[in-house]
This record gives sequence, C-alpha cells and structure tokens, in this order.
Amino acid sequence: MADKARLTVGTEAYDLPLVVGTENERAVDIAQLRAESGLITLDEGYGNTGSCQSRITFIDGERGILRYRGYPIEQLAEHSTFLETAYLIIFGELPNEQQFREFRELISEHMFIHEAMRHHFEGFPPNAPPMAILSAMINTLGCFEPQITGPEDEENFTAAAARIISKVRTIAAASYKKAIGDPIIYPRFDLSYTGNFLHMMFCRPNKLCEPDPLIERALDQIFILHADHEQNCSTSTVRMVASSQANLYASVAAGVCALWGPLHGGANVAVINMLEAIRQSGESVESFVTKVKDKRAHSRLMGFGHRVYKNYDPRAKFLKASTDAVLNKLGIHDPLLDIAVQLESVALRDPYFIERKLYPNVDFYSGIIMRAAGIPLDMFTVLFAIGRMPGWIANWREVHTDPHGRIYRPRQIYTGPTARDYVPMSERR
Ligand code: SDX
Repeated sequence: MADKARLTVGTEAYDLPLVVGTENERAVDIAQLRAESGLITLDEGYGNTGSCQSRITFIDGERGILRYRGYPIEQLAEHSTFLETAYLIIFGELPNEQQFREFRELISEHMFIHEAMRHHFEGFPPNAPPMAILSAMINTLGCFEPQITGPEDEENFTAAAARIISKVRTIAAASYKKAIGDPIIYPRFDLSYTGNFLHMMFCRPNKLCEPDPLIERALDQIFILHADHEQNCSTSTVRMVASSQANLYASVAAGVCALWGPLHGGANVAVINMLEAIRQSGESVESFVTKVKDKRAHSRLMGFGHRVYKNYDPRAKFLKASTDAVLNKLGIHDPLLDIAVQLESVALRDPYFIERKLYPNVDFYSGIIMRAAGIPLDMFTVLFAIGRMPGWIANWREVHTDPHGRIYRPRQIYTGPTARDYVPMSERR
C-alpha cells in the first residue's frame, strides 16, 4: 500500500506522507505543504480534514460503528454504567474495583456546589435558557476551584474531572428548580449518579421521592450513548480552546455553547418541536416529508442526517429499541413516537434520503425517552451536555498532554478587498 501521496501543481510535484490509524483510516499529512509549496488546503466545514490523531473514540460512518477506547457502545450501554464509561473514556481503561470505588467516592465528594454559587442562580431571569446558565456556572466553578492545573498533576486533574462530572448534574438540576421557583434540592449520598440527578430534579422538601429504577437506567444509558463522539462540533471547540492552554472549566464551558445549536446538540429539542408541530397540524408524514425535500421550504427532517454516519447511527438504533421498551413498561403511549416511527419509515424508503444517505441520528428518539422521564424540553440539550462531559474532558486531556501540541490556528483564503488607501470623511460619498 502506498506510504505517500503525490500532489502535482503545474510542473511541480510534492510528496506528502500518509498517516495510517489503528483502524486503517488513512490521511495525507500536509504539515509541511505550505512550507514546501506555498499552498494551503481549503475544506469548509472540515468534512475531509482531520484535526488531530486521537485514541479515545472510533466511528465508522459507513458501517455504523461507534466504540469508546475500543469497546462497542452497544456493549457499554447494555453492561456498563455512565460513571464506569466516563472513567473508561477519560483514563483509557475500564477501572478495577479499587479504581472505580475511588472514582465514585470522588464523584460523591464533589456533588455539592459552593454555597455562594447558589446565589448566582438568583441573578438569572426566570426564563433564562438552561444552556446559558450551564455554561456560565461551569466557568464560575473555575472561580471557586482555581487549583485546576494541567493533567501532568494527575491527582488534581482526576479531582477536577470528577468535580465537573459531578457538579454539572447539580448545576443542571438547580437551574431547573430555579426556573420553576422550587427550592434547590441537595444531592444524596445513597443514590447513583443518575438517580441523584433525578432526585435533584423532581424531589421537593415536602415530597420524598425515590427515582424510578426503569427511568434511572434509561437515562443512564442515554448518558452512556452521548459520552463521546470523536471530533464533533462541540468537542472540536473544547480542543480548540484547550490548545491555548486554557483550563478545563473554560474549555468545557465553550463546548456547552457549541452544543447548544439546533444543528448539533439542540437537535433533540428541534425533533420534539417538529413532531409536535406535525401532531398539532394533523399533517400527514408524507406531506411533511414532501415539504422537507422542497428546498424552497428551508425545512429539515430534524434528527436525520449526519456528517459522519452514512448509515443508521448505532446510538439511534439502540435508543429506538430502548424507547419502545421504556414506554411499554411505563404504560405510556406517546403519539410523537408513532409519528417518529412513521417519519422514519417514509424517509428510509424515499430516494431523496436514500441518495443522500440520511438516516436517524442520536437525536431522533432520545427526546421521546426524556419526555417519558418527565424531563422538560428546554433541559434536553443540558442532558446531552451532562452525557458528553467525559468526552470533552478526555479530549481536553489529550490536547494538554500532547508533547508536540501546538495552538490550533487554521489558515484561510482571503476574498475581501485588495489594498486601498484611507479616504477622508469629506471625500466619501
Ligand atoms: C449531532 O458531528 C457529530 O458527531 C454530532 C453528534 C454528536 O454526537 O456530537 O452526532 C450529535 O449533532 C447529531 C446531528 C443532529 N442534527 C440534526 O439532526 C439536524 C438535522 N440534520 C442536518 O442539519 C444535517 O444532517 C447535519 C447538520 C447533521 C449534517 O450536515 P452536513 O453534513 O453539513 O450535511 P449537509 O447539510 O451538507 O447536507 C447534505 C445534503 C443537503 O442536500 P443537497 O444540498 O445535497 O441537496 O443532505 C441534505 C442537505 O439539504 N440534508 C437534509 C438533512 N440533512 C442533510 N435534508 C433534510 N433533512 C435533513 N435532516
């Protein structure tokens, strides 16, 4: 197999080395291209550009494969827990009993936020978007715990990682309680990671409640399935910020902002809004799909399509089965699920979607489980952020521990005005 690529420009030829990954993915290394040829490459949206070499997550978009540190997500969702998967993603190996016990103890130790932070919630208006609160409060965490240093200080890094993973849940639940005017609920030591999240979300001082084990397990699996996804928009944002040697809190707070967009993590909200609009209008799914295909409508089938998956997103496959099981066990009939299943059936038989290899992605079914769990719509993307936290932390660590790491600074092709002289105000039209 060739070990280099040859680029010919006019009469000039440039040999560029190939990089081959452990899954035999191949890339042309253009690190010396500009120095040798004066040329740069241009790839708007980075559809063909690798930003890094990473050991964390592998995706095969053509075959619908997703593995964290080599473990298939189907097996992790079936047999693991979110905390154990978080440990695997961050530290690279499944923990032994002692390692997991110590990690869990750290998570428990850090589940409270500083009492002074509770007053920050008073400063937000009642209708403040939870993703705005989450990003602000993660940065605020850094103010209360400035001792975060680079991961070369292993103990500090582990404590900071555990702090963010534990407190992001407490901040999220507190922002919901603040929004509905309920008292903030303190976490309990006797509950699981996800059980505690449900406790802080839905319990009240005058209403003792125990998390429903079925919902607890379903949400824990949602967190597992969202835990990392190689160089998606928000993770690339975290790496970009981390490359300036910014601290972990600043980097993941930036990731929250990138995740917020409806083309990315905000899609789980957009899917429910789309399904609800179809339900309210009584429009047939066939008619809706026809509109989606008409570019003039500027409408998209939210929860469908993916930059990397040109096959069924393995997370969507798992979540579709889980949605059926959870709603059946809870005895819930959600008309939005019927509409989603009909939409999928129509779209997957339609040449427009087939030709473009558009399949359901992770967001198409996740919202229906979150609805069944009683999660309010404006918290859906917050739950995506809670799930993605281990991936962001692991990617931050890869950047900070790279001995050859450089600040990320892409080039561009300038298309603005060429050189011109200053025009005094009196001479302007
Ligand atoms: C996530 O990157 C990740 O890994 C993200 C994520 C993660 O875990 O981090 O997987 C999470 O963000 C999942 C994606 C959630 N977003 C949505 O569901 C929003 C709807 N999907 C699309 O907007 C779109 O598919 C994207 C944003 C997901 C991908 O966009 P691309 O790769 O830039 O694709 P594109 O816009 O260039 O589309 C290619 C063609 C176009 O048609 P033509 O111009 O060729 O005629 O496919 C069409 C698009 O119009 N198309 C769609 C469509 N998605 C793409 N048409 C209708 N409905 C859609 N959903």
